[in-house]
Amino acid sequence: MRDAKADRLDEIIASHSRREGPLLPILHDVQAEFGCVDEASKRQIALALNLSRAEVHGVVSFYHDFTAEPKAAPVLKLCRAESCKARGVEALVDGAVAAASERVKIETIYCLGLCSVGPNAMIGNAVHARLDAPKLEKLIREIA
Ligand code: FES
Repeated sequence: MRDAKADRLDEIIASHSRREGPLLPILHDVQAEFGCVDEASKRQIALALNLSRAEVHGVVSFYHDFTAEPKAAPVLKLCRAESCKARGVEALVDGAVAAASERVKIETIYCLGLCSVGPNAMIGNAVHARLDAPKLEKLIREIA
């Protein structure tokens, strides 16, 4: 039984069917849409392009742009402690969650030690201060 992903993969393959050398464009689209090129995708692409699975795997494993498994979503830690609350962080939460969708994980943290310049957030080891909705959503877009 075919699933929606297989159907969508067929559409991607078909969209490149008239190209010369469609494998790389297909792989880029699959990576962008599904976050990886998994084994099932490699088999389906190989079958559609009349290649061996090993040939498709060889291309996927050669280029660092392609991954066999989805990368873990990047994490943005949003300070929701008292000073950041007083500086308006709660008004940013819904917009941040909507902007993050499934691509970025929004976690709550309690105080980053920069209370006077909040609302603040942390990505990796970098702290981002004086956030408002546009700045926060821009940060989320940059790491997504
Ligand atoms: S309360 Fe947010 S940095 Fe201290």
